[in-house]
Amino acid sequence: MTQLLDWYDQHKRDLPWRRGEVDPWHVLLTETLLQQTTVATVLPHHPRFLERFPTAAAMAAAGEEEVLRMWAGLGYYARARRLHAAAQVIAARGFPADIDGLRALPGVGAYTAAAVGAIGFGLPAVPVDGNVERVMARVARIEIPLPRGKAAIRAAAARIGQQEAAHARPGDVAQALFDLGATVCTPVSPRCPACPWRDGCAGRDIAQRLPVRAPKKPRARWFGVHFLLEDAAGRVLLRRRPREGVLGGMMELPGTSWRPAEWTPEEALALAPAKAVWRPIGTLWHGFTHAELEITLMRAAVARISAPGELVPAARLGQAGLPSVMLKCVRLAGLAEGPAP
Ligand code: ADE
Repeated sequence: MTQLLDWYDQHKRDLPWRRGEVDPWHVLLTETLLQQTTVATVLPHHPRFLERFPTAAAMAAAGEEEVLRMWAGLGYYARARRLHAAAQVIAARGFPADIDGLRALPGVGAYTAAAVGAIGFGLPAVPVDGNVERVMARVARIEIPLPRGKAAIRAAAARIGQQEAAHARPGDVAQALFDLGATVCTPVSPRCPACPWRDGCAGRDIAQRLPVRAPKKPRARWFGVHFLLEDAAGRVLLRRRPREGVLGGMMELPGTSWRPAEWTPEEALALAPAKAVWRPIGTLWHGFTHAELEITLMRAAVARISAPGELVPAARLGQAGLPSVMLKCVRLAGLAEGPAP
């Protein structure tokens, strides 16, 4: 443990959330942003969030729509909605300062509770994300394929957290493990000679092969048709997706549902937001975690739009808080800055 912490003191990454006073709300906000993504993705967004929501009360007082709008482009929007709900609980009842209390917050699972507990409150918990999972599988030589191997990996992480030397600096132990996984114990070509745990690592000779993963199921394929409808004033019709399900609560161009079978033109046009001369603009693809979506984009212009939704000037579509897949659609039509898909 001292080797790990000494290594961290010398090599830790200089990240914005490691500067200044520790504040549990900042930790919760940061760890939520970092879920399922990389540090590089979060870095440009982090200061915006801290500035707009310096406290849980500031986020609780904001509307969910504003939080979702700020989250645009970061993906996994359910995280944003749950963080907003957690902010409301914290603003009303105070910040829970133990692992069970943290876990009871909306959207806070085992990982986030351990991260906020360790970094924000100095509790002896070890958050297990993908990086830590890999480090543990190697150090403890866990060859049980994931996801079945997760229990053994969590147990190995818990043993680390129980060591006496870890109790003095739980937040640094957690972050040292993140950094070790990100910079030394990397998925391919780990830099074992540079590792503070090289001598005690049980899996060093097979590090590259760990963790073992069960073969992945092929991703589902979904098909959808979306409609870009403009009025005479150059405004485009957007609507809000249902709260539940993929991209819940985000804005979109009106469209069909996303389903495993292709849409015939007749089926799709029956769901168009207006009777008009619809022209196909093209096809684009977007990868979600569990499915690959193929969208056919249709476009039409009418004098006046009567379908329900929000009318946004075409020039402002880039700032309308659209999720990435919808930005791809408007770019395909040449209506927003950025590379066409
Ligand atoms: N990944 C998840 N949380 C992190 C943190 N606090 N620092 C660096 N990488 C992380």
